[in-house]
Amino acid sequence: MAKLRKDFLWGGAVAAHQLEGGWQEGGKGVSVADVMTAGANGVDRRITDGVVAGENYPNHEAIDFYHRYKEDVQLFKELGLKCFRTSIAWTRIFPNGDEDEPNEAGLQFYDDLFDELHRNGIEPVITLSHFEMPYHLVTEYGGWRDRRVIDFFVKFATTVFKRYKGKVHYWMTFNEINNQADASSTFALFTNSGLLIKPGENAAAVMYQAAHYEVVASALAVQVGHQVDPANQIGAMIAMVPFYPASAKPEDVMKAERAMQSRYWFADVQCNGRYPAWLTNYQHAQGYDLDITLADLDVLQAGPVDYIGFSYYMSMAVQAQADEPASYAYRDANDIVANPHVARSDWGWQIDPVGLRYAMNWFTDRYRKPLFIVENGFGAIDQLTADHQVHDDYRVDYLRAHIEQFKLAVEVDGIDLIGYTPWGIIDLVSAGTGQMDKRYGVIYVDKNDAGTGTLARYKKDSYYWYQQVIATNGDDLTAVTPKES
Ligand code: BG6
Repeated sequence: MAKLRKDFLWGGAVAAHQLEGGWQEGGKGVSVADVMTAGANGVDRRITDGVVAGENYPNHEAIDFYHRYKEDVQLFKELGLKCFRTSIAWTRIFPNGDEDEPNEAGLQFYDDLFDELHRNGIEPVITLSHFEMPYHLVTEYGGWRDRRVIDFFVKFATTVFKRYKGKVHYWMTFNEINNQADASSTFALFTNSGLLIKPGENAAAVMYQAAHYEVVASALAVQVGHQVDPANQIGAMIAMVPFYPASAKPEDVMKAERAMQSRYWFADVQCNGRYPAWLTNYQHAQGYDLDITLADLDVLQAGPVDYIGFSYYMSMAVQAQADEPASYAYRDANDIVANPHVARSDWGWQIDPVGLRYAMNWFTDRYRKPLFIVENGFGAIDQLTADHQVHDDYRVDYLRAHIEQFKLAVEVDGIDLIGYTPWGIIDLVSAGTGQMDKRYGVIYVDKNDAGTGTLARYKKDSYYWYQQVIATNGDDLTAVTPKES
């Protein structure tokens, strides 16, 4: 029976804007994350017109990793991490995005961070763009709706591939590039692509244009990354939320199939190097006037990714509506229905460990590329006890159930899995709500939604459990008794 690779990359995942803070340190520019206020469970974050005095922007300080990363890397080392997934804040390297020359202080920060990780035996796994494009590119170019942003991104990618040659081997281009797929979320359009939809604009058409430029930029980055260092492994990063049919009714099955196609055509393009026919037909039928050139299509063919990085938190179920159109296209929230067979988190995320194994089989059958689970985790309210402990057995239960399923995918189904980096290994700012109290970490950070706290770090029960999991290469998933407070 197949086993997890001996060099399996057990790790933890974060993103620059969600933990670094230091939003104006070292010449950093303003990013899209810097103009998003704090929301709450069920309350959307607001996008402000630039940074407005008096508003609460949780990413500005985050957990101050910018100043405290050495202390945090020691906690990661003791935990046994083999790799650490983070992103490079584009705005530290090109503060506005369209400069000719990069910002040396920003480049030096990541040199120092990557050196510190290597000194402690931890491999950096780097996302080029994780919800943090320069805000200047939004105000001056309209975000990814402008073809010139391809060149800015490729310049950024080329700069960091060259600078960190030999220090970084695993890369991903765009975090959860497919989050924007149904074009209905203001948040996703802004964080993924810097898009603010104008009155009268068709959001889907704008999204398809921006996403096209992104997949072209991704394919160009893959080519440059391989030229700079043939040892580079450059992946896609896909938000995997399997869509199940709500019933065995054929129309529901067709609806689920189209929902999967609609969310994962990004992976089709990034892995296969071409658009699927149904999508090209759909875009034509809708009358979208898209700037997709023959030269672009050649670029896509020439830049397939090496592996599929993906996040997995939940699954969803969809149903056809009575007046379902021939396209079966996603229309509104009524397409999505609750799945009575799975539980939900306090934020309504459906908990479905078997869905992870299903997703891994689905990816493998479709693309035949190695997989890397680069996000998975359980956002919950934690209680810090007076003696600084956190008894987060619910988090251990969630992670254990998912690890059990990916082990089955490897051992029974023969799937090639590079590693596993649970999300928010250290508590950080939630991307979706801007909260601190929606916690994912195995390391607690003393800061709350109000922005108060000492920023001290404490090991949760899940820290000791994950330490054992890593030490046994996933063989021992049983509970452990915390050894120290
Ligand atoms: C993924 C993102 O969507 O999910 C992360 O890549 C994000 O940036 C994570 O933080 C969890 O989502 P949230 O909204 O709970 O922070």
